[in-house]
Amino acid sequence: MWLPLHTVCLRSPTVSGRSFVAALLKCTRRRANANVSLFSTSAGHRAQTCTALRYRKHGDPSQVVQLENVDLLPLGANNVLVKMLAAPINPSDINMIQGTYAILPDLPAVGGNEGVAQVVEVGSQVKSLKTGDWVIPKDAGLGTWRTEAVLAENDVISLPNDIPLLSAATLGVNPCTALRMLSDFEDLKPGDSVIQNAANSGVGQAVIQIAAARGINSINVVRDRPEFTQLSDRLKAIGATHVIKEEALRRPEIKELFKICPKPKLALNGVGGKSATELLRHLQLGGSMVTYGGMAKQPVTVPVSALIFKDVKVRGFWVTQWKKDHSKDERAFRVMLDELCNLIKQGKLTAPACTEVGLQDYSKALDAAMQPFTSAKQILIM
Ligand SMILES: NC(=O)c1ccc[n+]([C@@H]2O[C@H](COP(=O)([O-])OP(=O)(O)OC[C@H]3O[C@@H](n4cnc5c(N)ncnc54)[C@H](OP(=O)(O)O)[C@@H]3O)[C@@H](O)[C@H]2O)c1
Repeated sequence: MWLPLHTVCLRSPTVSGRSFVAALLKCTRRRANANVSLFSTSAGHRAQTCTALRYRKHGDPSQVVQLENVDLLPLGANNVLVKMLAAPINPSDINMIQGTYAILPDLPAVGGNEGVAQVVEVGSQVKSLKTGDWVIPKDAGLGTWRTEAVLAENDVISLPNDIPLLSAATLGVNPCTALRMLSDFEDLKPGDSVIQNAANSGVGQAVIQIAAARGINSINVVRDRPEFTQLSDRLKAIGATHVIKEEALRRPEIKELFKICPKPKLALNGVGGKSATELLRHLQLGGSMVTYGGMAKQPVTVPVSALIFKDVKVRGFWVTQWKKDHSKDERAFRVMLDELCNLIKQGKLTAPACTEVGLQDYSKALDAAMQPFTSAKQILIM
C-alpha cells in the first residue's frame, strides 16, 4: 500500500469470507502502523504534499477524477519517499474508478495501479532499497497517479534503472500476465502455437513478444479497422507470426492458415463473447483457453462440441491473485521480473505503443484511454 494521508484499503466482493476478513485485518494493521509512524516519527520531519489524481465517488473517470494536493506522511523508519516517474492508464484503473472492478479502494482514493517511481529518501531501517533505485508496486490498488508517495519498503520491488522508462512503467501488470499465461497452463515448445484476441492490447503485445522470444507461433486476432494493414505490420514487426481480423476466424479460409501453422494448444481471451467462442473452435484437442479480460462485456459461451469432442480446458487468470499467492515468496516475482528485464535489455520486449501525457492533462488522457480502436496506451508522465 502507498502510505500517504489516505491509506488505501482493498475490499473484494469476490474473495471468500475468510480471506476477506484477513484482507481487512491486514488493512487495519497497516492503517494502525501508518498512524504509529505518523505520531512516532513526525518530530524533525517536515510535512510534505504531493499532487495526485484523486476521486471521491465512483463514476465516469473524466468527471470524478480531480488533480488535488495530498499531504504525505512523514518518513517512517521502514518507509521510502519516492518520486513517481510514469504510470499507465489501464482498463482495470478505469473499472476501479467506475466502481465495477473486483477490488475497490476505500474512497477518496488516488487512481492507478502500476507505474515506476524513483527512491529519493529512505528511512533508517530500510535495507533493500537505496536512493536512486527504481521501484514498482508489488500489488494492485495502490494509487500510482501522483507525483510523490511515502511507501512501506515491503510494498515495492526494485527494477534495474537502465531499462527504458516506459517499459518499467508498464512492466508490473501486462507483461507479467502474458508471461504467466504462456508458462503456467500448457507446456508450449518452440514451433507450437498460441492464438489470442485483443492482440493489439498491452497484454497482447507482450504475448506476441514473449512467444516470439520462445520460438512459439502467435496467431493474433484484432478487430477490423481502416488502418488494419498498418496495425498488422506493426504487430508483425514485434514478432507476430500471423495477424487476422475477427471475421476471418469464422471464414473457411482459416483452414489455409492451419496448413502452414499448427493448431494452437493455448488460446488467450481478453474479450469474451463471440470472439472467445471462435478462439475455442480452433484449439487443438485437449488445449486450454485462458480468459484474463472481458473487454466486450459479454459472457463466454463454450460450444458443447469443443467440450465433448475436443475436451478443451476453460481456465481463468488474474495476475493480482498470482501476486497474492506468491507474496510470501518474493523470489518468484523477482525471477519473473528478471526474465522480463533480460528480454527488454536484449531488445526482445518493448513497451506497448503508447501516448505520453503530462499529469495535468489527465482528463484528456482518461477520455482517450476509453476510446476503442486507438491501439495506444496512455502513460501519465509526472
Ligand atoms: N486478468 C489479469 O490478470 C489481467 C492483467 C492485465 C490486463 N487484464 C485485462 O486485459 C484486458 C486488456 O488490458 P490491456 O491493458 O492490455 O488493454 P489495452 O492495452 O488498453 O487495450 C484494450 C484492448 O481491448 C480491445 N477492446 C476494447 N473494447 C473492445 C470490445 N468491445 N471488443 C473487443 N475488443 C475490445 C482493444 O481493441 P481495439 O483496438 O479493437 O479497440 C484493445 O485490444 C483488460 O480487460 C484488462 O482488464 C487482465
